[in-house]
Order: sequence, then C-alpha cells, then structure tokens
Amino acid sequence: METQAIRFFYRGRVHEVTDQATTRTVLQYTREDLHCTGTKEGCAEGDCGACTVVIGELADDGGVALRAVNSCIQFLPTLDGRALFTVEDLRQADGALHPVQQALVDCHGSQCGFCTPGFVMSLWAMYVNRPEAAGCPSRREIDDVLSGNLCRCTGYRPIVDAGQQMFNLPRAEFDRAALAKQLQALQRGDMLSYEFDGHTFHAPRTLAELGELRARFQEARILAGSTDVGLWVTKQFRDLKHLIYIGQVNELREVARQGDALYIGAGALLNDAYDALIIHYPELAELRQRFASFPIRNAGTLGGNVANGSPIGDSMPALIALRTQIVLHRAGVTREMPLEDFYLAYQKTALEAGEFVQGIRVPLPQAGQHFRTYKLAKRFDQDISAVCAAFAVTLDGGNVTSARVAFGGMAATPKRGAAVEAALVGQPWNEATARAAMAALPADYQPLSDMRATSGYRLAGAQNLLYRFFLETRPDAPLSAQEVNAFAFA
Ligand SMILES: Cc1cc2nc3c(=O)[nH]c(=O)nc-3n(C[C@H](O)[C@H](O)[C@H](O)COP(=O)(O)OP(=O)(O)OC[C@H]3O[C@@H](n4cnc5c(N)ncnc54)[C@H](O)[C@@H]3O)c2cc1C
Ligand code: FES
Ligand code: FES
Repeated sequence: METQAIRFFYRGRVHEVTDQATTRTVLQYTREDLHCTGTKEGCAEGDCGACTVVIGELADDGGVALRAVNSCIQFLPTLDGRALFTVEDLRQADGALHPVQQALVDCHGSQCGFCTPGFVMSLWAMYVNRPEAAGCPSRREIDDVLSGNLCRCTGYRPIVDAGQQMFNLPRAEFDRAALAKQLQALQRGDMLSYEFDGHTFHAPRTLAELGELRARFQEARILAGSTDVGLWVTKQFRDLKHLIYIGQVNELREVARQGDALYIGAGALLNDAYDALIIHYPELAELRQRFASFPIRNAGTLGGNVANGSPIGDSMPALIALRTQIVLHRAGVTREMPLEDFYLAYQKTALEAGEFVQGIRVPLPQAGQHFRTYKLAKRFDQDISAVCAAFAVTLDGGNVTSARVAFGGMAATPKRGAAVEAALVGQPWNEATARAAMAALPADYQPLSDMRATSGYRLAGAQNLLYRFFLETRPDAPLSAQEVNAFAFA
C-alpha cells in the first residue's frame, strides 16, 4: 500500500505529515515536533484538561463545528481534513490578548499558569460557539464547559468570573467562512490510508468502505473517539498495529427519529447523542452532565461506550432499561438484538469477526412509563461510577405492569435484574413492593469489592437507589427532585 500524507490546517497553513507513528498524539506532535509548547501535558489520560485544544471540522450545513478536546489522547492521523487550534492561535493581529485571555488576567484567573492554556481553549470554544445575541452564559453553563479542566492553585471562582467577563469585552471576531473554505480545500475524495513503520491507519469515509475494510481486516482495531483506546497507548503502552478510524464516516453520525424510536449512529458524539436523548428522556440530563467531562463528551461516542462493553460504562444501564436494540453491521448486512444480549461476559460481546456497531435504536417513552437513572460516584464531575442504576416501570391504575431494572458496577457486565423485576411486575407500586424488590437484589447481583467501593457498599447503594426511585415515582405523594437529590440545590 502506498501511504498518503495526513493533511490538516494549523496556524494559517496546511501541514502534511508522513513520518509519524499512527498513534503519536496531537499533543506530542505539537509540542515536540512543531515546538508549540503552549499546550501542556498533565495526566496524559484525558482527566486534567491541561492539553485542551480545539478541533475544527466541516459541519453538515457547510459551516464549521469547533470543539474542545483533550489532545493527549487524540492520535495525529485523526486530524486529517480538520483544523487544529491551540493557545498560540489566540494572539490578535495587533498582538493584543484575546478577550478570553484578557478576562483571565483581569479576573486574576491564573497563578502558576500550568492549567491556564487548557482553560483558555475550553473558554475560547465557548466564546466562538456562542451567538453574540445569546449574551453572557450562566455560571452553571461555564461550569459544564470547564468540567474537564482542573486547577490546583487559583480556585474556580475567578476563572468562572472570567468566563462571564470575556463577553463584556470588545468582541474578537472569528472568520468561520474562511475556515470552511480552508477545510473544503482539504477534503479528500478517497479514504486516508496512512502507513508508518509497519503500522496502518485507515479512515474510511462511507459506511460501505468501512464495512468492506472491517470484513477484510478482522484483526484491526476500530477507533472512534479514542477516549478509551487513547489510554491503551498513553498508559498501557499497547502496540496497535492497524487502526480503522470511523470518525470520518458521516453516515455513522446520524441521529434521527425512526417511527417510535430514536436511532443514534455509533459515531454520534456523546454530547450530541445525549442532547437528542434528553429531548425524549429529560431524566438523562444529570447523567449526561456527570458522564466524564465536556471535552471527553466532545470526542467520545455513544457507540464506543456501548461497544467497549465495560461493566462500569454509564450509558448501558439506562439504554437497557429503555429496551434499546443494538444494530450490528458486517459487509453490508445488518442484524439487531436487544442491548442486554450483546454483553456475554467480562469484556466479551456478541460482536463477531468482521462486524462493528452501526447504531442503536432507543424506543420513545410509553404511556404510564416512569424512568430514572442514577450514578453513584465519589465526585460529581469526571468520575467513574461505583454503581450506575436505571429503572423503568410502567404503571396502570397504580399497579406495575412492566419493569426493567439494570445496573452497572454490580456484575461482570451491564446486567438486568431478573429477580428484582419479578418482584415488581403485577404488584401495586407501594412501599411493600419496593421493599420486596430491594430484598430480591442480592439474588441478581453479587458485586465485587475494589478501590471504588466494597461489595457491601455497592449492594446497599443499589438497594437505596431502588428505594429512591420508588419515592420519586410512587403514585401517592412522590418526592420532588429537591427532596431526593443533593445536587438539585447546587
Ligand atoms: C477522563 C475520562 C473520563 C471518562 N468518564 C467516563 C464516564 O463517566 N462514564 C463512562 O461510561 N465512560 C467514561 N469514560 C470512558 C469513555 O469516554 C467512554 O467509554 C466513551 O464512550 C468511549 O467512546 P470512544 O468513541 O472514545 O471509543 P474508543 O476509545 O474509540 O473505542 C472504545 C472501544 O470500542 C470499540 N469501538 C468503538 N466504536 C465501535 C464501533 N462502532 N463498533 C465496534 N467497536 C467499536 C473500540 O475498538 C474500542 O474497543 C471516560 C474516559 C476518560 C478518558
Ligand atoms: S494531559 Fe491531562 S487531560 Fe490531557
Ligand atoms: S493556576 Fe496553577 S494549576 Fe491552575
């Protein structure tokens, strides 16, 4: 195979790369090869935000999408056809600071400064994406955008102040049309086939190409948002010989209503997928906010979360409780199955050789259905669940006519609770039924003890979450969010 150059736009010109490892990170390349050292490395695992950069890509409407991501876990070839922005880009034509930077100075939002370039880029993405007419964002909106940026000296109040203050300074315009033109000129008709030192990186552009490649190279590793796979390289030093990157396949990003279900393509970014789900299931809003951080959700996909099959992944309990079907694809042929049947054993899924996840189908809410999902973790933002619970019951005249209960963190896979469900169905939705279902929980789950929680804590936590679900949804005097959720007061 003849290798092609990776081509991307950075600091006013097109960069062509042919001599870098397929898993060299964007952060390593900018710092060590381009000597643009404004962007920092803290954790190299997507947790601290010191490495935040902004990636620009053509959007479906011909405009550009600009998203803050963690450059420490993004591989360089994923930049092909895209634009990269780092803190070095923010200097104004007259040498002045950008309003984001000026506001941080004015509000005393930096001390040692190590975290500052990352904060600047997260805030810059917010600045350029927010229409002027929308005015100043709330502190809560800024908190969400900064949920992936850690600061160990300054404290967040002045940084959030700056996030508001930057909108009061004279506006710095960003020429999106010019960027769109640059990006259009960079688009390739064929797929990227990049090879270096015996390693291969393919970036198909259509579903058909992906299907064909996957069937041909069954040992290759699928790469989506790289928020799991990136760490296999930066933390575990794994050697990934052949990557098939699905982030250029627009068909996989489809999110659309199909009959009485919402279809979400496997390549839809977590932020986009959750936005669409929340329209139908507002009960998912807190889970979305607590899923990793804003930049991780800008890169990671819902398909990657589902396909990775981690027992502590956050989306699966809710999706299983909502009767989600998973759509698998092999060389042009698709098959579907209930999501719970996809998980066979610890880190073992029903994916067959040559197959990949094409999307999921989430049924829309039914009459009488009550649904909740809860994440139990030590921190609000950016933390891994000890237990993640999801409950969906349908009530008719106060009786439970159907029940679906699923947990993460309680077994080797995301798992439904057959005994708990049996204790609920056909019963009146009252205290006695809730208590009986709680008592049935140990028959379904025998969780492990690990550094996140003991087995006993997990079981008690799971039972208490079930009781909380009852308190929120009981026909008689259900409790409001303010009465059951400490974060509702935040
Ligand atoms: C800082 C940080 C915080 C995180 N917090 C959370 C959290 O709160 N909750 C949570 O659940 N997860 C969390 N994660 C894990 C991760 O973000 C999610 O699992 C994410 O959804 C993975 O998606 P991705 O697109 O990045 O997948 P990738 O890393 O690209 O791939 C993950 C796996 O799925 C496979 N894969 C991807 N797409 C497909 C496909 N279409 N078909 C077949 N196989 C496929 C890959 O081959 C790989 O095995 C966190 C990760 C980081 C780094
Ligand atoms: S270096 Fe910490 S998130 Fe990238
Ligand atoms: S200013 Fe030192 S870590 Fe934020």
